[in-house]
Amino acid sequence: MRYFKNVADAEISDKKVLLRADLNVPMQGKVVVDTYRIRRSTQSILHLREKGAKTVVLAHIGRDPKESLEAVAEELRKYVPLSFVQDLTGPEAQTAISAMRAGDVLLLENLRRAPGETENDQAFVQELARAGDFYVNDAFSAAHRAHASIVGLAKALPHCGGYLLEEEVENLSLALSPQAPSLAILGGAKFETKEPLIKKLLDAYDHVFLVGALVNDALKAKGHEIGRSLISDGVPDMQVLNNPKLLLPVDVLVERSNGQARVRPVHEVAPDEKIVDIGPESFASLLPYIREAKTILWNGPTGWYEGGYDDWTHALAHAIAESKSQSIVGGGDTVAAIGKSGVDKQFTFLSTAGGAMLEFLLNGTLPGLEALE
Ligand code: 3PG
Repeated sequence: MRYFKNVADAEISDKKVLLRADLNVPMQGKVVVDTYRIRRSTQSILHLREKGAKTVVLAHIGRDPKESLEAVAEELRKYVPLSFVQDLTGPEAQTAISAMRAGDVLLLENLRRAPGETENDQAFVQELARAGDFYVNDAFSAAHRAHASIVGLAKALPHCGGYLLEEEVENLSLALSPQAPSLAILGGAKFETKEPLIKKLLDAYDHVFLVGALVNDALKAKGHEIGRSLISDGVPDMQVLNNPKLLLPVDVLVERSNGQARVRPVHEVAPDEKIVDIGPESFASLLPYIREAKTILWNGPTGWYEGGYDDWTHALAHAIAESKSQSIVGGGDTVAAIGKSGVDKQFTFLSTAGGAMLEFLLNGTLPGLEALE
């Protein structure tokens, strides 16, 4: 795969460069609430600007195609001067692109307004490709989607991976072959979809500690009462649960039907209670592994973070930050929690990716990376 270091200036200087970025940031109404992906995307844009490219930034936002990138454009403008048009391939976008001069940056509207984007429709790929001479994929966190702007454009134009994409591949590759002793901490929900990754991590890591709602499925399969806790549909493979490398919490924080929280050993959860986080003994049991580990991989808060149960996630962030390990962390909520804990500078790598990180760890590649090969 080519990166900027292998691209001659003549390929991008004064050329129209289509840059796919992942600017899919959390929003509250029209306000951007987390700018991590925006900040990480600026390096490639600034590089293209410096090389005198005419940079057309392509991105998506949210799941509703009506959502706009306008607020994101405002935020991105704090780092790079740019124009924004509420159009993708229509006359307004075409006029703005033809008026661009070397060094200009233009952000187009939410790619998902075009149905051809998610379908990787070839006619839409061609419409996009006509606007550019060169394509850069810097959207690692969307590279698990075989969409027009991710896979289609790489096949239609000369291309390379951007700085953010290169850094993600380099650092997440370290997590594929960890240094012993190694520890993986995996949370989230949907045990059945995470099970293949849990198996893969059990092969590569010395210990795998499950947190979040994955714990509920594991405890239920082991015959424990889990009350009203969130569970997924499938039944976990007992071989996975009985693997001696797999570590589970020994106590949990539960929310009772009156809304109060209390700590319970895992075998004492009552039918009207809901597991919302790990407990103090579980955290203490994890500390020796954290202190010893040379590589720690972490994806997923320890508990129901959106519900305000964030104490142990924050404590875990501090413990890993203070360890001497090579620490590789991903997932939107996990990285946001680390930001709130104020220890974000102390990690080896904070990925911009959520689903794409998990898929990369499972398969060692992604559709968007294969398209750049
Ligand atoms: C993400 O947030 O993981 C990426 O931007 C992909 O977004 P999507 O899940 O809406 O495809």
